[in-house]
Amino acid sequence: MTRIFSGIKPTGHLTLGNYLGAVRHWVATDQRPDEALFCVVDLHALTIEHDPARVRRLSRQAATLLLAAGLSPEKCTLFVQSHVDEHTRLAYLLECTATDGELRRMIQYKEKAAQAQASGDGVRLSLLTYPVLMAADILAYETKEVPVGDDQRQHVELARDLAVRFNQRYGHTFTVPKATYPAVAARVMDLQEPTSKMGKSGGTGPGVVFMLDEPEVVRKKVMRAVTDSGDGGVVYDPVERPGVSNLLDLLAACTDGDPALLAEGYSGYGALKRDVADALVEVLRPVRERHAELAADPAAVEKVLREGAGRARALARPVVDRAYRTIGLLEP
Ligand code: TYM
Repeated sequence: MTRIFSGIKPTGHLTLGNYLGAVRHWVATDQRPDEALFCVVDLHALTIEHDPARVRRLSRQAATLLLAAGLSPEKCTLFVQSHVDEHTRLAYLLECTATDGELRRMIQYKEKAAQAQASGDGVRLSLLTYPVLMAADILAYETKEVPVGDDQRQHVELARDLAVRFNQRYGHTFTVPKATYPAVAARVMDLQEPTSKMGKSGGTGPGVVFMLDEPEVVRKKVMRAVTDSGDGGVVYDPVERPGVSNLLDLLAACTDGDPALLAEGYSGYGALKRDVADALVEVLRPVRERHAELAADPAAVEKVLREGAGRARALARPVVDRAYRTIGLLEP
């Protein structure tokens, strides 16, 4: 069995980056509920300035959208992180395994701490310890594979390091996980700032396509996407030509193509943008329509989440209990 686990943070509306980099690949894993676990990681949304009502709303929306994208309770376990205490129980043991130095080296911590400081908010301690809780999310389930976008590389690496260190010190307790990335669109870039990741919370408004954007909005954002200065034509070169390469990546992801080969079919940006817009509209359309249906029946979504939490708890409990014993804590 290849147990897989992944999560998504309700800090903003889900984006095209979330969909193409992660969610779509979760849907494609044809597994059993005890093999594939997907989690709305709401505790992680509290690491930055937050509005309680908005976090609640976004958590519900994220779960609904994951179901709309095609996750099915027959094939996976979908749940909300704060419904399963094992995550925070394990996080403390992993805080006793990690070092201050390795957490301060995390790129996302440095970036987000700088943003929080610049806007006058204090840096929450949980922003520093966030990757430890993420490691707990993963290790509590004996996870083998973590399907994520490229920006989670350093975090999953930490989860591996902590698993190995814990096992070496106290005896074998955790499965050592590995990250898996999509072949294309592992890092979808902001359409207005193609050297930055397309993000839920940090991105530019017009450069971020949201999964629930109306077709006309998607089209407008794509047609206004920044292409690179100079007249180099349509070539795939993510370093020198990040804007046009991002568009080619999006097209490749939607059409199952190869971005460098696709480039050969275009002589101008206009035609490329039109094709990208059409492809994105078609990929997102069924998800948006299904979301509208599911959002009309919140009780059904809540039932899925409640059952999911029950299943997740049953899987995590013995793993976390075992870690409590091996690290030296008395049995209650
Ligand atoms: P989050 O909520 O930022 O993103 C969820 C997933 O979407 C991917 N992603 C992207 N992929 C490609 N291009 C983009 N522009 C893009 N933006 C986001 C992310 O890589 C991720 O796979 N720390 C995690 C949540 C988390 C988690 C976990 C993930 C918490 N615990 C345990 C896996 C396992 C995060 O902030 O994801």
